[in-house]
Amino acid sequence: MQRTRIIDALTAAVGTELTVAGWVRTARHHAGTNPITFVMLNDGSCMAALQVVATPELANYEDIVLKLSPGCSVVVTGRLVESQGKGQKVELAAASLRQFGSADAEHYPIQAQRHSFEFLRTIAHLRPRTNTFGAVARVRNAICAIIHEFFQKRGFLYVHTPIITASDCEGAGELFRVTTLPPGKSDPAEDFFGTATNLTVSGQLEVETYCCAMGDVYTFGPTFRAENSNTPRHLAEFWMVEPEIAFADLSDDADLAEEFLRTIFSEVLTRCPEDMAFFEKWIDKEVVATLRHVIDNDFVRLTYTEAIDVLTKAGREWAYAPEWGKDLQTEHERYLTEENFKKPVIVTDYPSSIKPFYMRLSDDGRTVAAMDVLVPRVGEIIGGSQREERLDVLGARMKAQGMNPEDYGWYLDLRRYGTMPHAGFGLGLERAVQFVTGMQNIRDVIPFPRTPGNAKF
Ligand code: 4AD
Repeated sequence: MQRTRIIDALTAAVGTELTVAGWVRTARHHAGTNPITFVMLNDGSCMAALQVVATPELANYEDIVLKLSPGCSVVVTGRLVESQGKGQKVELAAASLRQFGSADAEHYPIQAQRHSFEFLRTIAHLRPRTNTFGAVARVRNAICAIIHEFFQKRGFLYVHTPIITASDCEGAGELFRVTTLPPGKSDPAEDFFGTATNLTVSGQLEVETYCCAMGDVYTFGPTFRAENSNTPRHLAEFWMVEPEIAFADLSDDADLAEEFLRTIFSEVLTRCPEDMAFFEKWIDKEVVATLRHVIDNDFVRLTYTEAIDVLTKAGREWAYAPEWGKDLQTEHERYLTEENFKKPVIVTDYPSSIKPFYMRLSDDGRTVAAMDVLVPRVGEIIGGSQREERLDVLGARMKAQGMNPEDYGWYLDLRRYGTMPHAGFGLGLERAVQFVTGMQNIRDVIPFPRTPGNAKF
């Protein structure tokens, strides 16, 4: 079918003849001496719906048009005319209208009133038909395109890293096992791959192999963590983009992360003005102002030790008292970025004891060249580090964290043969979408959220 997307129809010239197809948002039927029907038609290409005007001149006016209700799918051919109504330049005078599918008005779950996000999560298969989820889907799509363009323009090579792996990059043990063994059997040697395997928690270790051959690279794919965190910021399945920069240190890494986030935010404002205006009006009045503030200001950079100092001097009650050697809690991250600095903050040089084996040990012997980028509302949006490139130090760090270096012989080879300084980070895509849209709950920025107890559809 030759159809014009509604986003293009809305800006086409009066007099253009075209065909559009989509789903009815509302249908208003006016009876009387001059019966007329106004259908607001949406096809997902933009937030706005195109007004279709139908009259009894259509042969199926009585049988089809008068029975249209929200959710019905139709294809309409007609001519664009100047709109009589407010808010739209053109409307479509229907010359023919064909219905594909009806939607029983009594049972169709998406009704005209606003539904709660909790309810919409129970109908994840229908929620993209609402304004909010349509806008989230378009912004998420735009962010993915911007991410690829950002790296491609800078000569980064896109590398596909495996979903099934035998390694645990973050060493946190939050692994989803992959097995074909029948219940009662547990010997990994008898399993499909002849070894214990899991869904990846990060593509970093594998993407490093290409960095150590091809230079600047990135991977972008789904990652899986079996952490039992029922929070508005955690998913068991989320998407992560992970660049790895060759011949680079932590400060190069932080520079790239800052430029990367700023580019995403400013490009979304340029590419998705209609959707962003919607989020500003209905979801978070501050969302666009916050993005502009981030785009226009440098990020604050401070060490973990300095951050602990700021937190202990904050003079407030914490649920978890800040203490050197312990991880920063969400309340600490939010205080730093939302209240103290009122800007994104890059915290560097964390204690080695709370960070994974692959981060470069600093000369002080107790911190590693790590960084977390914190933003208001969301907290940690990026985690990264300079990698430990020294074979002996890396082996010792692995052992100290209870790992068997022999299991990671291939990774150690990168240090054995032609090792060099390199650094990288991971951006959680959903946290980025949350920050950009102002959506409160991470479950509402991914089409099918996987969280503890929820993987129905
Ligand atoms: O800080 P993380 O664990 O870093 C890594 O995985 C590194 N291997 C990245 C690298 O250096 N290549 O995770 C990176 C980001 C976090 O900052 C956060 O945005 C997101 O991934 N993230 C989650 N997003 C949603 N749900 C979860 N359970 C997440 N865990 C991490």
